Amino acid sequence: MIVPYFRSPDRTFTLLHGDCIELLKQFSFKFDMIFADPPYFLSNGGISVQSGKVVCVDKGEWDKGGTPEYVDSFNRAWIKECREKLKDNGTIWISGTYHNIFSIANILTELGFKILNVVTWAKTNPPPNISCRYFTYSTEFIIWARKSPKVPHCYNYEVMKQINEDKQMTDVWQLPAIARWEKSCGKHPTQKPLSVLSRIVLASTHSGAWILDPFTGSSTTGIAANLLGRRFLGIDKEEEYLILSQNRKKEIEQISNFTLFRKKIKDIALLDRKRLLSVKEENTFSYDLPF
Ligand SMILES: C[S@@+](CC[C@H](N)C(=O)[O-])C[C@H]1O[C@@H](n2cnc3c(N)ncnc32)[C@H](O)[C@@H]1O
Repeated sequence: MIVPYFRSPDRTFTLLHGDCIELLKQFSFKFDMIFADPPYFLSNGGISVQSGKVVCVDKGEWDKGGTPEYVDSFNRAWIKECREKLKDNGTIWISGTYHNIFSIANILTELGFKILNVVTWAKTNPPPNISCRYFTYSTEFIIWARKSPKVPHCYNYEVMKQINEDKQMTDVWQLPAIARWEKSCGKHPTQKPLSVLSRIVLASTHSGAWILDPFTGSSTTGIAANLLGRRFLGIDKEEEYLILSQNRKKEIEQISNFTLFRKKIKDIALLDRKRLLSVKEENTFSYDLPF
């Protein structure tokens, strides 16, 4: 029996502590959408410049590089478990860079997913490349795939058009890197911005949907999900990140922060105010996690 590390009083935000491959095997609940930001395997002593200082960009033990065979077998193991936890009409988003994204694309296809898009997140404020021997790295890729080639998936086409000046949303998203206000509860070395995650949540789920993040880190996915009226389960093997996640959830439980953060998301995404306000009212939750 799984014991949650944390569950919010409103039951919309649950965290599990441990290895996602092991934990996902232990229950049979199915999710509407999965966002995964797995290790990119690029912590190999690289350097960059931050605030004028040369700094090592290693993220942690969990991100140390392995052989291509190891990267493939790790990706195969967790994507296979995620597939089991996805509803037939569900979709999965997986972020990465060239270090892991080709492995992920191949494994998604091998396991029977249909790749819908490869979104390029073009950072509007990337850090400089201090070697001056390459182009500045300014992009990350996010693969969006559905579980079944035949079962239709959720795509909120009109919402995406609406936040893109009434033009079809393209697969290149010009969004800034993480902002300082998003780190008020502490730092995670690879924290994703709420602007990226709120667009993902809005594009591919309806209000009340259940969203899983097997590599939750600081739980940006969960915060975006809750700000937009969706429910969330996050898993991480590092306790310090679960504490950070818990504090981020507590932060938005204060109504003034909840309102402020929704406004910030709206300002970034140019989201229609009426629709955002109606999201909360639509919540009628009819099913719950088994633990
Ligand atoms: C790239 S970070 C995710 C960052 C997150 N998207 C955010 O916005 O904060 C990957 C996370 O996965 C966790 N992790 C790595 N391997 C794991 C595993 N096998 N099971 C569960 N968590 C794992 C790490 O501790 C790390 O926090």
